[in-house]
Amino acid sequence: MKKVLVASVACITIFFISSAFYQKYDLAKSIERGKEVYTTYCITCHMEAGNSTPGVYPPLAKSDYLKKPIDTLIDIVLNGQTGEVVVNDTTYNGQMLPLNYLTDEQVADVLNYTRNSFGNKMKDPVLPEKVKVLRK
Ligand code: HEC
Repeated sequence: MKKVLVASVACITIFFISSAFYQKYDLAKSIERGKEVYTTYCITCHMEAGNSTPGVYPPLAKSDYLKKPIDTLIDIVLNGQTGEVVVNDTTYNGQMLPLNYLTDEQVADVLNYTRNSFGNKMKDPVLPEKVKVLRK
């Protein structure tokens, strides 16, 4: 009986410690900061509501493209995007220049913002550490 109790306490402790670590990344704050990054660096092409210009700039609003793996999205911001992309059943063939002058945090923030605005809702956060690894 005592062993079970000790095991339960250990499990609960581990659960709380790990959830504290997980919550260390404040997604809401990141989204807030990301809005500013978006307004400064993305809005000229992707427009205020992420609706973009039909046929020229693909939308970020309810974009099925944003459901792609986080690595792909980080890559687009860091290295740009050229060639054909299909977003919500429409093919675009334009050019987005690399925005590799943004910091790791800015890239993570702007993606957290776009992934949680304009009708998108994705709770798994894009972490700056991930951007750092992919930048190399
Ligand atoms: C100079 C204009 C321009 C700017 C600035 C720009 N983009 Fe783009 N973006 C494009 C174009 C054009 C494409 C499609 C490229 C293609 O056709 O291959 C694109 C594609 C994308 C895509 C993939 C397709 C989609 O619609 O989901 C994402 C995600 C994206 N941009 C995010 C961003 C973010 C975030 C920023 C700001 C950090 C940004 N873009 C800044 C022009 C721009």
